Amino acid sequence: MKALLDELKAIVGTRGWTDDETDLEPYLNEWRGVYKGRTPLRVAPASTEEVAAIVRACHAAGVAVVPQGGNTGMCGGAVPDGSGTQILLSMHRMRRIRSVDAQNFSMTVEAGCILADIQEAARAAGRYFPLSLGAEGTCQIGGNLATDAGGLNVLRYGTARSLTMGLEVVLANGTVLNSLRALRKDTAGYDLKQLFIGSEGTLGIITAACLRLFPDPGKLQTAMVAVATAGESVGLLARLKEQLADRVETFELVSDYVFGLVEKHIPDARLPFDRRWPWYVLIEAAGSIDELGAALAKAMEDGPVLDAVIAKNTSESAALWRLRHSIAEAERKDGKALKHDISVPVSAMPAFLEQGDELLETLCPDARLVAFGHVGDGNLHYNVVLPRDRDASAREEEGKRITGAIYDLVTQFGGSISAEHGIGQLKREWLSRYGSDPELEVMRKLKKTLDPAGILNPGKVI
Ligand code: FAD
Ligand code: MLT
Ligand code: ZN
Repeated sequence: MKALLDELKAIVGTRGWTDDETDLEPYLNEWRGVYKGRTPLRVAPASTEEVAAIVRACHAAGVAVVPQGGNTGMCGGAVPDGSGTQILLSMHRMRRIRSVDAQNFSMTVEAGCILADIQEAARAAGRYFPLSLGAEGTCQIGGNLATDAGGLNVLRYGTARSLTMGLEVVLANGTVLNSLRALRKDTAGYDLKQLFIGSEGTLGIITAACLRLFPDPGKLQTAMVAVATAGESVGLLARLKEQLADRVETFELVSDYVFGLVEKHIPDARLPFDRRWPWYVLIEAAGSIDELGAALAKAMEDGPVLDAVIAKNTSESAALWRLRHSIAEAERKDGKALKHDISVPVSAMPAFLEQGDELLETLCPDARLVAFGHVGDGNLHYNVVLPRDRDASAREEEGKRITGAIYDLVTQFGGSISAEHGIGQLKREWLSRYGSDPELEVMRKLKKTLDPAGILNPGKVI
């Protein structure tokens, strides 16, 4: 091991590594505090060639490599295991915007670029990069692609996958696979980049990406509306789409209990209504305030909308967005929840929620449902907090039972047990239970083909 560590240090130079325990601490802990790992060395390469050399050396030594972006992931995918033998490969020094092609509506960026910096670089070129999530000031595009991140604008623009034109990837033996083509059409053989998107660092290290850009959508209007049931929000979305077509960018459902957590834990966070309602939807749409206002007024007249607030300026809009962006932090501060990042067809969401309520009532009437998320994409964070009066082992057993029952229900509705956060360590066992045999078999074969020695992020996904 010592010879390998010396070789890796030499590859990245003095500014590119650390083995100091205090410096390593934040990178070895998953931000929710659920997973903690150990490593003999954190290396931060500054170029694709350095990534390739690191992976080649680790491959020759049979030592595992764990890629890490902003470490904002939800499933423990970016944290090494407890063995103290896995090399942590941090991408933060690879943060160059290689080029922006405004005419082609594309840009090529290194994997360590922070998402917010990419949005800004697109804006500076008069273009729009729509991927947006609460962690955008910290997460990296490599991590976004490795998890196929979703976030707040999927409704109009799709997940990270649909925003990707090409990738540069370092394979498990150190070969650089360059499919960094800025093409909208390319049927020359298999579309290899798709294999790496969403593979959570288990099939290759993403070093650069060519991303799709869009025209500036112009002024976006933000509104918060109140509805009586989560099911009604689905009908509301269909109405808004009929009136505003694809200009609806965001449609986020949040329960009153969840916004109560935000108000409890986040300083100065306040809902803009003078009374409580059961559910709220945060809506963002391109166009004029009058257009969104008219659509919502009609929905109020007809029933589904009980109350509505439209932001009159950017600071009112920012205050509404702050409520939404604070949920993950408020939930973390409130204590550990069983996280279920699930998706079902949008049309099935009302029935899923109804049956989910009944299920929780039967399994654990004292449990609290923490439900929020991207209902417009059929994706909810259907999290559950167990009563605090159980001891640790009873909680663990009960947690597994509840998670299993929720995933059974999701499966009955033709849904997914992981909509946008990935599998990581958290859901590996669940994937092997809920994935179909032929699908799991193909996944295992892919892993074996692309990483026969099993050095890329072992213990994650499959
Ligand atoms: P990391 O956490 O560092 O890594 C995630 C996985 O990708 C790991 O398996 C890691 O090994 C792998 N990886 C990282 N970089 C590379 C690379 N270059 N090559 C290969 N593999 C790599 N997620 C959503 O989808 N939607 C949301 O709305 C959303 N909101 C969030 C809000 C908050 C406040 C927080 C804290 C998180 C949120 N997330 C959300 C989860 C998280 O931000 C995303 O999963 C994000 O895409 C992870 O990026 P990262 O750079 O932090 O990756
Ligand atoms: C969100 O939608 O806010 C994120 O996916 C984070 C979370 O699930 O906590
Ligand atoms: Zn989410």
